Amino acid sequence: MEKIVSVRLSNERSCGVHIGASLKGLGRALARFAAGRRALVVAPGPVARRYAPAVLKGLNAAGFEAELLTIPDGERHKNLGTVAKIYKAALAARLDRKSVVVALGGGVTGDVVGFAAATYLRGVPVAQVPTTLLAMVDASIGGKTGVDLPEGKNLVGAFWQPALVWMDLSVLKSLPDREWRTGAAEVVKYGLIADRRLLEIMRSETLDSLRRKPALLAEVVTRAAACKARVVSADERETKGLREILNLGHTFGHALETATGYSSYTHGEAVAVGMCAAARLGARLRTFKGSEVAAVDDLVRRWGLPARARRPVSRAKVLAAMARDKKGASRFVVPFGWSKAEVVEGVPLPMVEDVLSEVGM
Ligand SMILES: NC(=O)c1ccc[n+]([C@@H]2O[C@H](COP(=O)([O-])OP(=O)(O)OC[C@H]3O[C@@H](n4cnc5c(N)ncnc54)[C@H](O)[C@@H]3O)[C@@H](O)[C@H]2O)c1
Ligand SMILES: [Zn+2]
Repeated sequence: MEKIVSVRLSNERSCGVHIGASLKGLGRALARFAAGRRALVVAPGPVARRYAPAVLKGLNAAGFEAELLTIPDGERHKNLGTVAKIYKAALAARLDRKSVVVALGGGVTGDVVGFAAATYLRGVPVAQVPTTLLAMVDASIGGKTGVDLPEGKNLVGAFWQPALVWMDLSVLKSLPDREWRTGAAEVVKYGLIADRRLLEIMRSETLDSLRRKPALLAEVVTRAAACKARVVSADERETKGLREILNLGHTFGHALETATGYSSYTHGEAVAVGMCAAARLGARLRTFKGSEVAAVDDLVRRWGLPARARRPVSRAKVLAAMARDKKGASRFVVPFGWSKAEVVEGVPLPMVEDVLSEVGM
């Protein structure tokens, strides 16, 4: 059963997030949006091989002239070189502003293809078709697009809201375990900041059990997507500080990723350690109980995620990364009891260092 979560945007616009849709059905849905009948589907190799045929078939059946561009896979290709490849393919396919670009893949694909769509001819419609759990619950919703520079991640980008977000949950069957877990970390985050039922589900299921329960998986993705959609609707361009709540565990997590050179932890693994750190900060600030901290550790481990750094990491590097973080090293999102979180400013450095020690950072 398909569910639709609506992201309300400024100027009476909105974006439908379709959960439980079929890849083949995308063509028919897009035919209602796009004024033209040309489409470019962009996907990384492993995703293109498995899933592009169904998307192309649906587009063709709906009257589109659709081309496929396969891009190199992985974060190291989330760059301007790949954007140039997409422009080239768009020109070759004679896309105009009535055409549509389809981003089929994980968050890397969504970001780089979304950015190319935002800038090609000053903007053509894009459909986000996320195929990782992380992209479904997070990256595909909200309109942030961009690429990395050699100097750092996500340094170039644009806000470009998709025409629609289209999720076929059956594609998760081929998702490697580690990618499932990294997405699960973000789901746990939504449970901790906003959704009690989601938290309960994550506390009672495991990766194996969830994979065997398609209806429950649909509920999990729908709830997580709805959390993201609510926050985006309230603060579309991240100007009001409301989106900041989504950063629970991320100040610590980004610091761990940066200090280890993005090679040892997936994003979700780093965020898991970060959430355990944020829980400890909550305990010190008396917004979270000691028993709740232990429960967060258990929850993270239940999903095969680390609750503390696996190996010693340079404290100097961690602190330097936190200081460079947009939020600074004294501003943190902290849990306030279950399923609620707030930003706390002016956290003293010794308290931050104590928390870092407790999670092995
Ligand atoms: N725009 C945003 O708001 C936002 C939010 C969060 C993260 N992001 C970005 O998302 C990126 C991470 O996304 P990700 O975790 O999805 O990584 P990813 O896109 O690199 O995908 C992970 C791997 O899984 C493969 N894959 C994808 N779908 C598959 C499937 N169904 N079956 C088998 N393999 C599959 C991919 O080819 C890739 O090798 C980062 O670049 C991050 O900056 C963006
Ligand atoms: Zn994240």
